[in-house]
Amino acid sequence: MRIGILGAGVMADALGTRWAAAGHELMVAGRTTQKARALAEKWGGRVGGFQETAAFGDAALIAVLYQGMPATLAAIGDGLRGKPVIDCNNPVEVDHFTLVTAPGQAMAWEIQNATGGQVVKAFNLCHARVWKMDEPLFDGRRLSVPYCTDEAAAAAVARQLIEQVGGEPVSVGDLRHAHHLEAMAAVVISLLFAGRDPSTVFNLVDALPPA
Ligand SMILES: NC(=O)c1ccc[n+]([C@@H]2O[C@H](COP(=O)([O-])OP(=O)(O)OC[C@H]3O[C@@H](n4cnc5c(N)ncnc54)[C@H](OP(=O)(O)O)[C@@H]3O)[C@@H](O)[C@H]2O)c1
Repeated sequence: MRIGILGAGVMADALGTRWAAAGHELMVAGRTTQKARALAEKWGGRVGGFQETAAFGDAALIAVLYQGMPATLAAIGDGLRGKPVIDCNNPVEVDHFTLVTAPGQAMAWEIQNATGGQVVKAFNLCHARVWKMDEPLFDGRRLSVPYCTDEAAAAAVARQLIEQVGGEPVSVGDLRHAHHLEAMAAVVISLLFAGRDPSTVFNLVDALPPA
């Protein structure tokens, strides 16, 4: 499929590189054109403006730091209306690891309202280094990738894109749960910044007594 990548940073590189290898056709837009150009060259893809890249894709990834999200959403225009939009973004500041969204809000809902896209929150809980892994296996187990969306068609696209980076898609429900995935990211990021391995905190199954 054609995927428009909005943002030309670390996550665009990690996910776009895997999706290009899986045979998708990519166009990328970024604030720094040089970075977008370098990614497009790496993928055998194209560089576009934000509107052009949104219009190009059958689906899109938005991967922009929260500070740049309002300007990016304004620049995208109407090109994502009705399309699957993967939202990997975390509205988390790293001084105190709190959400920068208004209380009870979610960035995913802001993206949905601004673009009219079929937003899927996904890929926000692991570091880019994990998304770059050929086979994200941990203790021999495939990486589970939680996602949430309101739309069955967008869920099917997200599941495909998750499987193509070697992950196992796990639905956590409709887009109301984006709020929870974003809050969970705040905890995960604080653990990473503290030098802890989040998987040792969340990987509780083996510690449960037998049922
Ligand atoms: N990195 C990770 O491991 C990781 C993992 C999971 C989720 N995420 C989330 O994924 C999103 C992208 O992260 P990333 O690591 O790819 O970020 P990044 O490499 O720092 O930047 C991504 C894009 O955001 C743009 N940007 C940054 N500040 C901006 C501003 N003030 N105005 C306009 N554009 C701006 C960058 O433009 P320039 O290149 O011009 O700076 C770049 O195109 C974030 O929401 C992040 O929370 C990141």
